[in-house]
Amino acid sequence: MLFFSPLVLVSSLALLMIVTLVRRLRSPLSSLPGPRYSVFTSLPLKWAEFNADRTLFVHQLHQQYGPVVRLAPNEVSFTSAAAVKEIYCSGGSGYDKTEFYNLFTVYGRRTMFSTLNKEPHGRRKRALADRYANSNVMRGESIAGIEERGQRFVERVQQRASLFNNTGDEGAGQVDIYTALHAYAFDCISHHIFHPLGSDSLRKASDETIMLEVTGDSSLQNRLVSYYLPTLHAMVGRVLDVVAPPRETPLADDFVIEATDKRAQARPFTLLSRLGDKVWGLDETTVAAECLDHMVAGIDTTGDALCFLMWELSQPRSLWVQDTLRMELREAEKKGEQWDRLAYLDAVVMEGLRCFPAIPMSLPRYVPAGGRTIDGYSMPGHTIVSCQAYSVQRIDESLFPEPDRFNPERWLAMADNDGGDDGKEAARKRAFFAFSNGGRGCVGKHLALAEMKILLRDVYARYRTLPGQGMTDDMMEMEDQLISARPKGQKCLLQFVADEV
Ligand code: HEM
Repeated sequence: MLFFSPLVLVSSLALLMIVTLVRRLRSPLSSLPGPRYSVFTSLPLKWAEFNADRTLFVHQLHQQYGPVVRLAPNEVSFTSAAAVKEIYCSGGSGYDKTEFYNLFTVYGRRTMFSTLNKEPHGRRKRALADRYANSNVMRGESIAGIEERGQRFVERVQQRASLFNNTGDEGAGQVDIYTALHAYAFDCISHHIFHPLGSDSLRKASDETIMLEVTGDSSLQNRLVSYYLPTLHAMVGRVLDVVAPPRETPLADDFVIEATDKRAQARPFTLLSRLGDKVWGLDETTVAAECLDHMVAGIDTTGDALCFLMWELSQPRSLWVQDTLRMELREAEKKGEQWDRLAYLDAVVMEGLRCFPAIPMSLPRYVPAGGRTIDGYSMPGHTIVSCQAYSVQRIDESLFPEPDRFNPERWLAMADNDGGDDGKEAARKRAFFAFSNGGRGCVGKHLALAEMKILLRDVYARYRTLPGQGMTDDMMEMEDQLISARPKGQKCLLQFVADEV
C-alpha cells in the first residue's frame, strides 16, 4: 500500500526528474551551440514537425547558432561539408539510419530505403542499383520513354491551355502544373519500373487518380503520433484517424500488385524485370514493396522539384533566366546538341535543387557505438545526427552569396562575374546535398535529372511561363511532409505563352 501513497509517488517523480535533469546537464551535448531549452526537451522541434515546418525551424536555428546546433537533448544538426562526409559517407554508406525510417516500411516489409543497417541495405542495393546507373537510364527504350512523356506533357499543356482560351475567361492559357508535373513524374517512374505496364496519367483520368491519391496524402500528423507515441496511437488510433487521416493508397497498391503479377511482360531495362530474377531470392511481396517504394519516391520528389523550379522561373525577377535558357536550347537545337551537354540547363536544374530541394529536411542517423567527433565536437554513441539540404546549400555565404536568391549563374565556372573562376566551384559542388551523399544517396538521381532536363527543354524551347491568375506566394510556401516538402496550396497555375522563334 505504501507503494501507492501520494507522497511516495510525488517523491519518486521528483527524483526521476532530478536524475534526468542532472544527466542532461552533464551530457557532452549540453555544451553545444543551440537554444537552452533543447538541453531538456524536444517539444519545440516536435511541434514544428506537427505543423509541417521542421525544415525552416531547423534552418532558423542554424542562422542563429551557426553550423552546429543542438535540436533536442539527443539530437544535433550540422551543415558543413566535413560533417556531411562523416555522417553520410564514412565507411561507404555512413552511419546507420534511425527508427524514423520504420515509418517507411511497405506491406510490412523493409525496402532498400527503409533498411536501417549497412548489410541488408548493401544486399538489396546490389540487386537493383544497376537499373538506375546513368548508362541504363540513358539507353534506348529507357530514355525514349522519358522523351515520349515530355512530349505528352507539352500536348497536355497545349490542350488545357487552349481549352481555357476557348472559354475566353481571364485565366486564359493557364495550366495547373502541380498536377501535370506529378502525372509526368508518375508516368516516367512507372515506365522505368514496369514498362509496358506503366501508367499514362498525363492522358488517362483513371491513372491520374492513382497519382492524386499518392500525392494528396495528408497523413503527416497521424504517422508522427505513431512514431513518437506508439502506445497512444495503439489506444486512440481509430479516433485519431478521424481528425488526422492515416496513410492509405489502395489504388497505388493495386496498381503495383497487378503489375508485379504480370512481371514476365516487363522489359529488360525495368526494375521489375531485375528484381523478379530468381537469383535474388525475393518473394512476390518484397518485389512489390520495393517497386511501390520507388514509384512513390519518384513521384513527389521530381514532381515537387520541377513545380517549385518552374514557379520560380515564372516570376518577373527570373524571366531573364528563362530567356537565357531559351537561347541555349534553340542554339542547341540548331546545332543538334544533346540536352545532357547543355551547361545553362544544368545550372538551372542545380540551382532549382539548391533553392528548392524536394527532400529539404534532416536525414537522421545514429552515431555509432563508441562515439565519434564531428566538426570538432565529441558525439556519444546513439546520438541522432543529421544534415538538411535546405541549410547545407545556403548557410555558407562565402560559397553561396545572397543564398535566398535564385541565380543559376553561380553554378557556371565563371562564378565571380568577371569572367574568372572564384576558386570555389569544387567547394560549391561538395555542398550540393539535394540527393544526399554516399552509399545511401539517391539511387534515382540520374533518372530524376534526365526527367527534369527533358521536361524543361521541351517547355522552355517553346513557351514563356508566367504566374497564373489567383496564385499567391503563400500557396507556394514549403509544407513539410514526412521527409519531402510540397507547395502548401497543392496547386500551381502557370500561364503558357507560345514564344515564336
Ligand atoms: C528531384 C528528385 C529527387 C530528389 C531530390 C531525391 C532525393 C533523395 C534523397 C535526399 C535521398 C536520401 C534520403 C535519406 O537518406 O533519407 C534519396 C534516396 C532515395 N531515392 Fe531519391 N530523390 C529524387 C528522385 C528519386 C527518384 C526518381 C527515385 C526513383 C527510383 C528515387 C528513389 C530513391 C531511393 C530508392 C532512395 C533510397 C536510397 C537508399 O537508401 O539507398 N529518388 N533521394
